[in-house]
Amino acid sequence: MAVYGRFPVLTAEEAAEHIPHGAAIGIGGFTTPGVPQAIPRALAVRARRLHAAGQPFQVRVLGGAEAGPAVDVDMVLAEAVSFRMPFQGEKVCRDAINAGRIDFADQHLSHCSQQMCEGFFGPLEVAIVEASHITDDGHVFVTTAIGSGPTHLQRAEKVLIEVNHHHDPRVGELADILILPPPPYCQAIPILHPLDRIGVRYAAVDPQRVIGVVETSEGSSRPVPRNPDTRSCRIAQHLLQFFLEELAAKRLPESFLPIQSGVGNVGNAIMAGLGQSSDLPPFTMYTEVLQDSCIDLLRAGRLTGASSSALTLSEGRLQEVYADFDFFGSRLVLRPQELSNHPAVIRQLGVIAINTALEADIYGHVNSTHVCGTEMMNGIGGAGDFERNSRLSIFVCPSIAKGGRISSIVPFCSHVDHSEHSVHILVTEQGVADLRGLGPAARAKRIIDNCAHPLYRDYLHRYVDGARAGHLRHDLARCFELHRNLLEHGAMLPDLDLQKGVD
Ligand code: COA
Repeated sequence: MAVYGRFPVLTAEEAAEHIPHGAAIGIGGFTTPGVPQAIPRALAVRARRLHAAGQPFQVRVLGGAEAGPAVDVDMVLAEAVSFRMPFQGEKVCRDAINAGRIDFADQHLSHCSQQMCEGFFGPLEVAIVEASHITDDGHVFVTTAIGSGPTHLQRAEKVLIEVNHHHDPRVGELADILILPPPPYCQAIPILHPLDRIGVRYAAVDPQRVIGVVETSEGSSRPVPRNPDTRSCRIAQHLLQFFLEELAAKRLPESFLPIQSGVGNVGNAIMAGLGQSSDLPPFTMYTEVLQDSCIDLLRAGRLTGASSSALTLSEGRLQEVYADFDFFGSRLVLRPQELSNHPAVIRQLGVIAINTALEADIYGHVNSTHVCGTEMMNGIGGAGDFERNSRLSIFVCPSIAKGGRISSIVPFCSHVDHSEHSVHILVTEQGVADLRGLGPAARAKRIIDNCAHPLYRDYLHRYVDGARAGHLRHDLARCFELHRNLLEHGAMLPDLDLQKGVD
C-alpha cells in the first residue's frame, strides 16, 4: 500500500467510501482555489451509484464559505447534499436551495466555528481539507484558503487530506493560524496591522484520526472576473472622490485605513478602479477574499499588504503569485475566518468595508442576499461581520439591474441583511449618498437624488410624499409595489420605455 509519510494514500473513490449516508462533512477552505475537489467529486459519483441501486445517500455539508464546484455543482446535481452552510456561489446550488431541495443556513462567517463547537450542526463525522503537505505529527499546511478548516480538523471524528501538488510547496508560508479559546478565556487579539502574525503556519490535527491522504493536482477553477463595466468604473470614481474628500476633511488619516472588499464582479472592478488613482495613498487590506484585481495592485505598489481568509484567484493570477513568491509571500497573510472577520480586529484596525448590495432602500437598509425577498442569491457571507464593525461601512451597487427592469433603490428592502443603523454610505454609478448624521427624511431625499436611477426618481419621491407620516414615512400597502410588479409583469415599472437601452 502506498503511503504519504505515516498515512495511507487512498484514491478519491476509496476515501469517499469512508463517508456514510447522513454524515456531516466539513469542507476546509473558503473559496476556490483551496477547497478539496477530488473526494467530493468521487462522492457525487458514489451517490449516483447508490441512488441507482435504490439506496439513500445524502450528507450535510459544512463549509467555510464556498465549497467549490465539486460540492456545489457535482454533489448537488447528484442529489447528495441535504444541508449546506454558510455560503455558496453556484447557480446549481442556488436553484436547489430555492426549490427547497437543500436546507441552507445563511449566517455570518465569523460565527461559524463557534456554532459548530457549540454543537448546532451536530457531530462532525468527517473533515476534508486541501493541503500542500501534512507532517507525521499532524501539522497540516493548508493551501490558498483557510476558512474553518483548522476548526474542522480539531472537531472531526475522521479526517481526509487532499494533498494538492498543483500548489507551490511554499504556499503554507502565507497562513497565520490560531484558534481562539472561548470566553472567558480569550484575550485581546494583537493584530494592529493587517500583516501582523499571531499564530503558526499550520493547522493541527491528531494524526490518529487521519484516515488517509488523497494526492491530486488541481488548478484553480475560478473564472476570470468580468471586465469592469461602465457602471462599476463610475462607482469606483465616485468612491475615489469620496475618499479624497474624507482625506481632505481629515476624517481619514493621511496613511489611509485598511480596506475590505466584497466578493463578486463589482467588488473586483472597484478595487481595480481605486488602485488606478495615485491621488489615493497606497493602502492595505483587511478582508476575507482577495480577488484578481488585487494582484495588480500589489505588483504596482498601490496595495502594500493584505490579510485575507483566501486567495480567490483565477489560475493565471495564482501562477503569478507562485512565480514571484518572495514578493507576494511577504505581503500576504491568510487567516481562519473567525480571525479575518473578527469584530474586534475590524473595529480596532478601523477597516473601511466596501460590500455589494442587491438592493438598498430609501432609508439605507440593504439586501445583499434575497431577490424579491425570497430567492437566495449567494448568502450574507462576511458582509455583516464587516459592515457592522467597520469604521466606515459602504455599500455599492449599480442603480439598476436587468436592463433597467429592476431598480436597486426601492421604497423598502424585500429582505434586510444590513440595517439603516449600520450602513454609512451608499454608492451607485449615479453618485454617493453619505447618510452619516441624517434623519430619515434627509436620508430618503439624498438616496433618491444621489443614488437612484433617473428613471425611478419620480416614483420614489412620490412614494415618500404619499406615505403615512411618522418618524419614517411608509405606505404599508405600497412599499413592495415595485417588487410585486417585477414578479407579476417582469419589470418594476412596466410602463417604462426601456427599448432604447438605459444609460
Ligand atoms: N434584483 C435582482 N437581481 C439583481 C439585482 C436586484 N436588485 N441586482 C443585481 N442583480 C443580479 C445581476 O443582474 C446579476 O445577475 P446575472 O448573474 O444573471 O447577470 C447578479 O445579480 C449578480 O450581480 P453582479 O452585478 O454580477 O454583481 P456581483 O458579482 O458583484 O455580485 C452580489 C453581487 C450582491 C450577489 C454579491 O456581492 C454577493 O453575493 N454578496 C453577498 C456576500 C457578500 O457581500 N460578502 C462580502 C464579503 S466577501
